[in-house]
Amino acid sequence: MAQRNNFGSKLGVVLAAAGSAVGLGNVWRFPTEVGNNGGAAFILIYLFCVLFIGVPVMVSEFVIGRSTHANTITAFRRLAPGTWWRFGGIEGVFVAFFIFCYYIIVSGWTLHYTVASFLNQLSADQDYKAYFQSFVSSPWEPVVYAVVFMLMVHVIIVRGVQNGIERFSKLMMPMLLLIIAVLVICSFSMSGFVEGVTFLLQPDFSKVTPNVVLSAVGQAFYSLSLAMGCLCTYASYFGPNTNLMKTAMSVSMIDTCVAVLCGFIIFPAVFSVPGVEPGEGPGLVFITLPHVFNIAFHNVPLLGYLFSGLFYVLLMLSALTSAISLHEPVTAYIHEEWHLSRNRSAWLVTIACILLGVVCSLSMGVWNDFRIFGLCIFDLFDFVSAKIILPLGGILICLFVGWRLDRQLVYNEVTNNGKLRVRLFRLYIFLVRWVAPLAIGIIFLNELFWR
Ligand code: PHE
Repeated sequence: MAQRNNFGSKLGVVLAAAGSAVGLGNVWRFPTEVGNNGGAAFILIYLFCVLFIGVPVMVSEFVIGRSTHANTITAFRRLAPGTWWRFGGIEGVFVAFFIFCYYIIVSGWTLHYTVASFLNQLSADQDYKAYFQSFVSSPWEPVVYAVVFMLMVHVIIVRGVQNGIERFSKLMMPMLLLIIAVLVICSFSMSGFVEGVTFLLQPDFSKVTPNVVLSAVGQAFYSLSLAMGCLCTYASYFGPNTNLMKTAMSVSMIDTCVAVLCGFIIFPAVFSVPGVEPGEGPGLVFITLPHVFNIAFHNVPLLGYLFSGLFYVLLMLSALTSAISLHEPVTAYIHEEWHLSRNRSAWLVTIACILLGVVCSLSMGVWNDFRIFGLCIFDLFDFVSAKIILPLGGILICLFVGWRLDRQLVYNEVTNNGKLRVRLFRLYIFLVRWVAPLAIGIIFLNELFWR
């Protein structure tokens, strides 16, 4: 097999992993969840989930990836040959693939809105709901955008780890952070700033139910790209000096800060326009925000034009870096296990995903009547992967690293063969052995009984 390529720098490692984590989930899903689930009360619970469940699971994925330097399926197989643990790896690669199929469609929407925004098509006082619905239910338009988006991902993936993923993450992540900074500063001047920030930061604990806690864990998993083979695959390209704990902390903090900052961008805008409700589901960024941008900047249309354009570029960039990380685990697996060239493997993934993506996209329009358990295919993919398989995969990873793997191996990985002094190692082991799997398990069972 060809020599494996590694990431070239620590910064590259953090930015690539943060690129995976920072995605539509931060911009599109997190503010919606905050809006619906008690504002800062949700943020607090979310932070707790990130620190005590997300970070330990992420470190565990890093341990599995780096100790084997192999794709996720091979990694599990090597660490526990001939056992059913291999399902941990299979789960990762499959979920990455299925999430990718609908993620790419939504990513295509972000590309469309970026283009539409710069062409000034979103500025006229129109019915944004009808605009969005006619776009997503069109049989071909979203598909064209998804294909263009996919080709961008494909080009980056075939360039390899260092020249493709790392180089582009180093370029795109700083750009993304800069855009966020500019938009946050702009939102200071909005009339709804105080109200928006109060809404974001004032806790309403009366809204916290077991389902809200479930949402927080699900959101943390999704937002940190856990249990999907993505971070495990990236970790297989980490060099021997990468500090796994520090990397996991940095990535989680960048991801959480970006998510909260996105709230600082979205809510002041939303509260500047009377009569608009903050938590309006996924339609928030595609239906509410174009309207809000239009009205909030009524007096200075040029500023509205730039704000909205930059916002959709931000959305698109965040989707791009995440999409890359969903492509990679599947490509790496096919490349290494089926012995195809990286180029061919990438093409296989690209084409298969587009085909399934088309099905997802059509299920929002002409095939919307075809439903399984009352959900269209698109929602079904989202529900099954994000709400069911992810928690199960998370439990599997914790149990594997906490109970099955040799403790010395885990210690060597976390401390880089004893070179690092890691004071929290015991706490980490305790969390992956007990806290994380129990918490995920209880919450998951709760979900089954409460709904
Ligand atoms: N973490 C990404 C987000 O917040 C989604 C994602 C999930 C990306 C899994 C890669 C892998 O949108």
